[in-house]
Amino acid sequence: MRAEFTGEPIDDSTLWRILEAAHCAPSVGNSQPWDFVVVREPVTLREFAAHVAERRLDFARSLPTERAHTFAPVKIEGIEESGTGIVVVHDDSRGGPQVLGRATVPETGLYSTILAIQNLWLAATAEQIGVGWVSFYDEPFLAGLIDLPADIRPVAWLCIGPVTEFQHVPDLERFGWRDRRPLSAAVHRERYTGATGK
Ligand SMILES: Cc1cc2nc3c(=O)[nH]c(=O)nc-3n(C[C@H](O)[C@H](O)[C@H](O)COP(=O)(O)O)c2cc1C
Repeated sequence: MRAEFTGEPIDDSTLWRILEAAHCAPSVGNSQPWDFVVVREPVTLREFAAHVAERRLDFARSLPTERAHTFAPVKIEGIEESGTGIVVVHDDSRGGPQVLGRATVPETGLYSTILAIQNLWLAATAEQIGVGWVSFYDEPFLAGLIDLPADIRPVAWLCIGPVTEFQHVPDLERFGWRDRRPLSAAVHRERYTGATGK
């Protein structure tokens, strides 16, 4: 969701239901390592949007000419249009030093926070509310913008709000940036048989 936000802000009770769904996500050792920072101050949204515009420009400049042309019309955020940003942040120390299930795979903490994002996204979709994930930012900039302590990591800026419609084909496919892989290319039987395509 990037271009379809109506500009009307999401109402508080709908937002709370969606955050409740996010907060019900499964997590390693029930550590619940996420927090949600709801950002609505227009000046903060503007400041973040300006930063994202710079990072978008950097990425555009890094592309070969043909890819740069394909990328040019692609909208990568709806920060101000949505009127609400949810910064999902991750506290890796939540749950103490012995988190059940994290001893062998330390990333399971971060995976848990990402599941909260997926829950949020699905709950929003069920409520006909659009969500877009923005990742064109420098983490220290976003951390500074919302006063995060040094050990708390920003994982996503989610634009959230009512939308005029839901697209059926992903934007990046419609703009010719990248198609979906067929499921048959992603499913392996018994052993990993090597990925097809890049
Ligand atoms: C980790 C992650 C980061 C993403 N970052 C961005 C982003 O910075 N800007 C953007 O427009 N979409 C971003 N997306 C959205 C994907 O590009 C998008 O969900 C996917 O291409 C499907 O397209 P659709 O949202 O149009 O259906 C991100 C998605 C994920 C999962």
